[in-house]
Amino acid sequence: MTQSRWSGTKDLTPAQRREGLVERTGLDAADLQALEPTDGLTVDAADVLIENVIGVLGVPVGLATNFIVDGEGVFVPMATEEPSVVAAASNAARWAHASGGFHTSSTGPIMQAQVQIVDVEDPQAAKSRILERRDELIASANEVDPLLVKLGGGCVDILPRLVDTADGIHVVVHLVVDVRDAMGANAVNSMAERTSELISDIAGGTARLRILTNLADRRLVRARAVFTAESLGGPEVADRMIEGAAFAEADAYRAATHNKGIMNGISAVVLATGNDTRAVEAGCHAYASATGRYTALSHFEKNADGDLEATLEVPMPVGLVGGATRSHPVAQSNVKIIGAESADRLARVITAVGLAQNAAAVRALATEGIQRGHMTLHARTVAVAAGAQADEVSEVAARLVASGTVRSDKAEEILAILRSEQG
Ligand code: MEV
Repeated sequence: MTQSRWSGTKDLTPAQRREGLVERTGLDAADLQALEPTDGLTVDAADVLIENVIGVLGVPVGLATNFIVDGEGVFVPMATEEPSVVAAASNAARWAHASGGFHTSSTGPIMQAQVQIVDVEDPQAAKSRILERRDELIASANEVDPLLVKLGGGCVDILPRLVDTADGIHVVVHLVVDVRDAMGANAVNSMAERTSELISDIAGGTARLRILTNLADRRLVRARAVFTAESLGGPEVADRMIEGAAFAEADAYRAATHNKGIMNGISAVVLATGNDTRAVEAGCHAYASATGRYTALSHFEKNADGDLEATLEVPMPVGLVGGATRSHPVAQSNVKIIGAESADRLARVITAVGLAQNAAAVRALATEGIQRGHMTLHARTVAVAAGAQADEVSEVAARLVASGTVRSDKAEEILAILRSEQG
């Protein structure tokens, strides 16, 4: 089993971190080669992924350490431009480590497509007629993707709904599909397009939109972790974190930021593994409003031992087959690092990272605030922008933070002084 506890990573070079990863996971160095930009996504390969390619964008990939998810140690690559996200996730994973890390459950990979039928004279009766032909509709949908059916997936249910719109009542038919290891958009969209004619015939109306819903509320993953009061810095810190999370549950302004913190973790792993960040983000935010009021996606409470028990439930439509996950060399390396053999495992790891990210942010906010940690890392970026070379960055950043002014003009001034000192 991978031992994911790894301290001192911040003092290593990227190449040393990759070597350490090879030693700890049993991966081949070749499995990680694509993380070196010259061996990653080429412009020619990118030209096949999207249209009108003119280049590729580099985003840093950092390694989150210390994670245990369902008893298994796992290193998690995170693609993000935001300083302190990777360090914060690793810190929170360390706090949870002593209590066994993150425990997860999932509903399985169920996605839904919607078929909108307009101009139906008798919507209630149409709904009944559709349900009477449920098996035939499921069979018709499954003709689209026999391979998915062979793998144990496929359309499993048909759910007609009546939606009262400004344009009158629309009959909206959901195709409920087990998409196995795919994100599922292609499978469900094809099924919706294929069955829409039969559905509109049965309903006696006209098919219009045929598309998946990103509110993937049948593809939920839950993560739970116990953070001992001691690991957080004492019972008072745990209490303040609970107050912070309660604020987010009660107030949409705070909830949006609280959930953004969760997405800092989730989107970074979704992106690193070549999955669709917008689909996951749309799903999570829509799910946060599922009660009719936008609220926090996570919940913090004190358990019987006086420790903080944190939970998170989110839709997690990610896949391992299809999409960029298979065609992007860096995404392939990142999936290998996680070692996920199923989309379900990947989804659970991502959700655990979201919860860790959230705990780290709320702890920082409930104690010293986030600016000190942010500024230390931000100072490095400012130092580089001011022209500091690799061997000067740490010193310029340290002096910037000490000066209390993390600005480019100040960095230039400090750099000039440093160089004159070194003469
Ligand atoms: C910053 O990217 C994320 C936070 O604002 C999250 C939060 O407020 O919980 C720190």
